[in-house]
Parts: sequence; C-alpha cells; structure tokens
Amino acid sequence: MEQFQLTVEPGAIQIPIDPTATILETSLKANVKHAHACGGNARCSSCRVIILEGMEYLCPRNEKEKKLAGKLGFSDNVRLACQTTVNGNVRVKRPVLDEIDIQIVSSRAADQRITSIGKEMTLSILFADIARYTAFTENAQPYDLVHILNRYYFVMGNAVEKNSGTIIDYYGDGFLSVFGMNEEPDHAKLAVQSGIDMFRRLDDFNEYLKEWLGQSFEIRIGIHTGKVIVGTIGTKSMSKLAVMGDAVNLASRIDSANKELHTKFLVSQSTHELILDHYQTGRDFEVEVKGKKGKHKLFEILTTSSG
Ligand code: FES
Repeated sequence: MEQFQLTVEPGAIQIPIDPTATILETSLKANVKHAHACGGNARCSSCRVIILEGMEYLCPRNEKEKKLAGKLGFSDNVRLACQTTVNGNVRVKRPVLDEIDIQIVSSRAADQRITSIGKEMTLSILFADIARYTAFTENAQPYDLVHILNRYYFVMGNAVEKNSGTIIDYYGDGFLSVFGMNEEPDHAKLAVQSGIDMFRRLDDFNEYLKEWLGQSFEIRIGIHTGKVIVGTIGTKSMSKLAVMGDAVNLASRIDSANKELHTKFLVSQSTHELILDHYQTGRDFEVEVKGKKGKHKLFEILTTSSG
C-alpha cells in the first residue's frame, strides 16, 4: 500500500500519514513545533493550517470546526489541524509560529465580535461625507458638534443597517460602509438603496439641525463594487474589522469626485452594471480619478428613485 506523506511548512517536514490521526497529532508525533493552545479542542484556532496541496484528501469539517471557522471567517483552505484527518498526500503551512502569533490568534478566537483572518470578497463599498464640514466645525460649540455628529451617524447608520450593510470606519465627517459581507448577491443594489435612504433621512435630520443650530448638512456619496481583502486588524480591545485594497481607494475617490462634478451621488461602472435595471441614473461622466490611472466612467444616481 502506498504510504502517503504530510508535508508541513515552513521547513518542508515530511511525515508519514496515519489516516486515523489528525494533522495536529501527526505533526506533534514527529516533534514539529505545532501550536495548539487549547489542547486540540477547537477553541483557540492556533493550530490552524493553510492547505497548499491536497485539499481533496481532507475530511469534511466537523461541527466543532465549522463553528470556529464560521466565527473567524476561514476560507475553505484554512483548517484546524486538531480536527482534520487526511488520507492522501497533503502539504500544509503553519501560519502560527511563535508565542506572539499564538496570543494574537487566541485573542481573536475569544473575541465575541465579528472577526476575519483575512479573505478576499467582492463587496459594494459606500463612502459618504458631509460637504463643507470644516466650516461647520469651526462655528459649532464642542457639545453641539459631538451631539450633532452622533445623531447624524445614528440616522445614517440605521439606513445602512436596514439594507444589510456594515459600517467599517468613521472619519469625522464621513464613514465607510460595505455591503455583501454575508454574501448577499444583490449587494450593489443594497448599497445604492442605502444611499437613497440616507438622502431621504437627511431631510428629517436637517429639520432638526435647523432648529438646533440654524444650519443644515449636505452629504455626498460614492459607491464602487470590487474585490477587497476583509480582515481584523489591531490588538485586544482596539482590534476592528477592516477592508483593504484598490477598490476601497477607488470608492473613496468616487465620493470625492462629487465635489468637482457638482453631484452628490456617484457610482462606478461596476456598480452601475449591477443596478441599472433598478435605479434611475442621471448624467454620466468620464473622468480621471485622483491617484488612479486612466479614465473612469461614473454615473449619477437620482435620489428620488427607489428600488
Ligand atoms: S488546538 Fe486549539 S483549535 Fe486546534
């Protein structure tokens, strides 16, 4: 009978496979320094391995592994070595190599908030900001400023959540939110609907603001659909979910382009293609976007339209 091998990276350590033993058991038996902070109980995730070759020879995830993998957003090729057996030639990489790595991954596993070890997803990214915000802050008292911003973010946050979006970051006068985190196929539509809802809610918000300070806000929104990396960054209580990549930068630039184009709601071509049967668009523009090569087609969304 052919003797299959488990190859453990880094180090290209080759170990004969026992199909009844887990990857962790096999690895430890061969004296590989394989992290297993919870003792193999699918609680810490420090034993995780990235499967480089031989995905087809792995046992399916058991319930314990499914639970932790779901919580941490593992992609299919990231497995808990303590729960996985193999029955063919498999090559794996241990990403958790030292005490600092163990502390980072164990604290993520214990965290009750949404976390992700880093995965590529196609999302719709919405940036919103407040026009002439600096002038507003210069004239507002500190209490008024914080009170008004909290109310603004509460109102706009509800519009995002109602459309299954997630707010990722606040930037003083703006925020970044994403749609499609739970693999909603219509994330572009949800993002655009969220933008339309924000403009609708802005009218009520401005009534309040006029009474409070005799002022009103104008907002601008930019949306782009594209591939991003979603991952949890930072440590302990300062950790947070982040989205990174070129698509995020482009969405931010589209929001800024509203200023030069005298528009208030723009989407990229990739978003437009996914929503064109559902929303009314106005003008379209072919523009150079700051910091990006080439021309980009942008489409104005009419905020009176609805999905
Ligand atoms: S050793 Fe803790 S999850 Fe595998």
